[in-house]
Order: sequence, then C-alpha cells, then structure tokens
Amino acid sequence: MTAPHLDVHLSPDAAEQALRRDALVGLTAEPKWLPPKWFYDDRGSELFEEITALPEYYPTRTERALLAEHAGAVAAATGADTLVELGSGSSEKTRLLLDAMQEQGTLRRYVPQDVSRSALAAATAEVAAEYPGVQVQGVVGDFTADLEALPRGNRRMIAFLGGTLGNLVPAERTAFLAAVRAALVDGEHLLLGVGLVTDPQVLVPAYDDAAGVTAEFNRNVLHVLNRELGANFDVDAFEHVAVWDAEQEWIEMRLQATRAMRVHVAELDLDVSFAAGEQLRTEVSAKFRLEGVQAELAAVGLEVAGTWTDPDQRFALLLARAT
Ligand code: AVJ
Repeated sequence: MTAPHLDVHLSPDAAEQALRRDALVGLTAEPKWLPPKWFYDDRGSELFEEITALPEYYPTRTERALLAEHAGAVAAATGADTLVELGSGSSEKTRLLLDAMQEQGTLRRYVPQDVSRSALAAATAEVAAEYPGVQVQGVVGDFTADLEALPRGNRRMIAFLGGTLGNLVPAERTAFLAAVRAALVDGEHLLLGVGLVTDPQVLVPAYDDAAGVTAEFNRNVLHVLNRELGANFDVDAFEHVAVWDAEQEWIEMRLQATRAMRVHVAELDLDVSFAAGEQLRTEVSAKFRLEGVQAELAAVGLEVAGTWTDPDQRFALLLARAT
C-alpha cells in the first residue's frame, strides 16, 4: 500500500523559524513563557499519548465516552462527507466519528491536520488502511495559522477535540474561532471538545500525575530547545509545576528553576538568566463554562446546534453550525 498524501504547510524551515521567534520572544519576556505547541516533537507526542492513559488524566477518556455515545447524533445533525480534524495527534478518537459517518453513508474524506509530521504520517497510514475507499489527506500545519489551506468543500465538519482550544489565550482563541468560521461555508459544522470548569482537586492532579509523566512532558520542551536551537538547559534542574488560576479559570504549567543559572541559546545568540525559583510558563489549559463557549461561538457566527456533557460535567462536546 502506498502512504497517503501529506500536504506540508509547515515546512521544517518554517517550523524552525517559528520556534526561534517564539523562543526569543518568550525567553526574553518577564515573566518568561513558551507556547505549548513546542512540546510535540516525536518524544513529546509519545509522552502525551502516555498522559491520556493516566488514571488522573480524565479528559481523553471522558471525551471518548461522549463520542462513543453521541457520534451518531453528530453525524446525523451534520450530514458531513468530510471530517477535518485539527491537532489530530494519533487520531485515536476519530474512528468513532468516522464510523458514524460511514454508517450513515456520507463519509468520503478524512483530513487530519497536525504539527507533528511523524504522528500524522502514522495516523494517516492507519486510517487509510482501515477505511478503504475513504480519501485520506493529511495536512502538516499549525491549526492557528493554516486554516485557509484546508481542502475545500461544502459538507465538511471541522473537529477540534481534546480540549486543545484551552491552550489558546483569550485573544488567540477569538482569532482562531473567527478563522474557523471564515474557513467554513454556511451550513458546515465545527465539533468542539472542551474541558469544563470543575473541582480543582480533580483538575490539578490531571496536570500533575503521581507517576511524573506530565512532568517529563513539560520538561521535554527544554530538550526541544536544546536540540533545535543549540541551547544548554540543564533539564533536570527544572521542576514541574501545575497550578489552577481560579480567576482566569485555567491550569498553568510552569517549569521552576531549582537553582540560579544562565542558559546559552546558541542559535539565537542569547544568554538567559534564571533566578533560583524562577518559573517559566509553558502552557495554559483553560477550562470553560457552557454559556461562555456558546457566547464565544455565537460572536463569530457559529450557532450551537448540540451540546453533550458527561454526568460529572467535566467535559463537553459542542456542535456548532456556520450561519
Ligand atoms: C492536548 C492541549 C488538550 O491541555 O489538557 C496534557 C495537553 N498538557 N497535560 C491539555 C496537556 C498537560 C492537553 N491538550
């Protein structure tokens, strides 16, 4: 079998450029920060897959259960022939949607998009083998930047699952949702999976597991900077921190320097000093309230047509129609 086609909108060169820019901006900012998308090299994608199986990390299994129960209703409400999946990763939950679309006889095309070329290549090959007759067209790209490059159509459903919307800060989120709306034609759909505001005693351990996998995932971004930008971070000198910000209603992951140090980033010709105890923000993972997401969607011309939540109200699937 030949491997499915991958459209590359994020060339290795462009990705490298973006990483340099983000590292320069973030490491010279006060307080320091890095965007979460740089976690996901091959090792980071693997570690994230491990996270999804941790007892404390409820979002993946909760969303999977919601999809298992409601994918038929989603397929029926959309009549979609194309599933576009943003940040598809391993495409593990996608099969539930593909199966439902196939059962109702509308499925023609699957378009997964991800920044990780390796994750995408593996996922497209598997899906293509499992769904003969379905056109699989992977897009290597950044979901915040490359939406206009998605294949055209008029019965597409864009799925953005896993709660990844929460990785965008509010201004980025508004711009992203507006771009999704602009990429759709009237009557097409967005299926959104978002984590809901819930008990911090449940939330925090999901981002600070006992086995330390999330800690390793968090520190992985420093390995990425060492390898890609010739930095010399002493990765073991940083501790994983996860805190719930009750005002912003988001989890923040940070890396805390356990001692004062100076880090050289060769490719940026940059020296960065850390004080003992200084924290570098590596991720926000916002949690939502249903009325809030609905309002944000409505504001960009996406009208909610269906909402499904688990019994504990920890996660929601929202189906919205472009109007
Ligand atoms: C893949 C972005 C949804 O925010 O829950 C998991 C990433 N970070 N553990 C999330 C993540 C720490 C995850 N998303």
